[in-house]
Amino acid sequence: MILVTGGAGFIGSNFILDWLANETAPVLNLDKLTYAGNPGNLTAVEKDARYRFVHGDINDRALVEQLLREHHPSAIVHFAAESHVDRSIHGPGEFVQTNVVGTFNLLEATRAWLGTVSAEEKSRFRFLHVSTDEVYGSLSADSPPATEIFPYVPSSPYSASKAASDHLVRAYCCTYQFPSLITNCSNNYGPRQFPEKLIPLITLNALNMKALPIYGDGLNIRDWLYVGDHCSALRAVLARGRIGETYNVGGNSEKTNLEVVKTLCNIVDELRPAASPRASLLNFVKDRPGHDRRYALDAGKLARELGWEPQEKFESGLRKTVSWYLDNPQWVEEVVSGGYRNWLDTNYAAR
Ligand code: NAD
Ligand code: TYD
Repeated sequence: MILVTGGAGFIGSNFILDWLANETAPVLNLDKLTYAGNPGNLTAVEKDARYRFVHGDINDRALVEQLLREHHPSAIVHFAAESHVDRSIHGPGEFVQTNVVGTFNLLEATRAWLGTVSAEEKSRFRFLHVSTDEVYGSLSADSPPATEIFPYVPSSPYSASKAASDHLVRAYCCTYQFPSLITNCSNNYGPRQFPEKLIPLITLNALNMKALPIYGDGLNIRDWLYVGDHCSALRAVLARGRIGETYNVGGNSEKTNLEVVKTLCNIVDELRPAASPRASLLNFVKDRPGHDRRYALDAGKLARELGWEPQEKFESGLRKTVSWYLDNPQWVEEVVSGGYRNWLDTNYAAR
């Protein structure tokens, strides 16, 4: 079996659904269920005998050790994190606690457990640390996309905490021959993403004819990857990646925020026609402090070494995503009636 941390979140839940559809090994999902964790993301596999959920914190060392002793996973896929840049600006403490200290705790518990298993079991085990392109910081307009050897220049408490955890994982591999791999992925989008992030936030606001907040001039660039492509990349890295290596996972799809929002407006107009076009709802608001201008990733290593390339085109992926939110009003209602309401007041009231 494999142990997934943070599997009730956006990417983790997509990964578990994708894993159970394509692989045979069972999944144990350890998740604290913060505001971002939603067991409703996994109702489709609730009754699958190969899926088990454990409500708990990666900072709980005794719990992690117990799970490792009891289940002997062949891999840990580590998603658990605080993941939203704006929240890290309002409250960085949780980011250090989960992303840095929590990852350290997981590494220590796993290292101790690996010391008790056979050489053969250890040689098969993999620790896959799921990270972000934001660790490379803001690239200039004329910079080539970041490769795996680009320097780390994080600019937000979120990206700094992810950078710190990447460094710890790499150091454990060098120092203790800890069998880890790291992936740094660009911005994901797709079903089940919490509507604090750009694409689901704009989709739901556009559906409800609410203002569409654009930070600054809207010309910041992100590279977008459909979440299903991220999941297939993670399975490839687990199966065939080389221990100690880092792999960039990118979508070859750099877009300005304005391009993304305007494309979303067109799709929503087409699927749910309204009296006025959604583009009239664009609302330029105060910029995010330390707002990175451009992220771009060179994922050539993953293509060359493991034969992985993204399959989804941005326009079709976006269409699938909007359709998913339209087809799942109950999921939306449950998320919107929860803590997300308070977040909207905290983040947007003073902008
Ligand atoms: P998310 O915020 O949707 O989900 C995070 C999950 O982790 C939630 O289920 C939450 O309950 C859980 N969690 C948080 N703290 C925990 C703790 N202390 N113990 C156990 N569980 C805890 O995040 P996501 O967007 O799915 O991102 C998953 C991972 O992928 C993160 O590590 C993130 O840095 C990385 N990543 C995300 C993106 C993106 O675009 N979303 C891109 C690249 C990398
Ligand atoms: P986000 O989804 O928060 O991801 P990240 O900051 O990790 O890249 O934001 C994506 C881009 O969209 C980023 O440049 C900030 C911008 N943005 C807005 O313009 N308005 C918004 O309301 C949000 C949430 C983001």
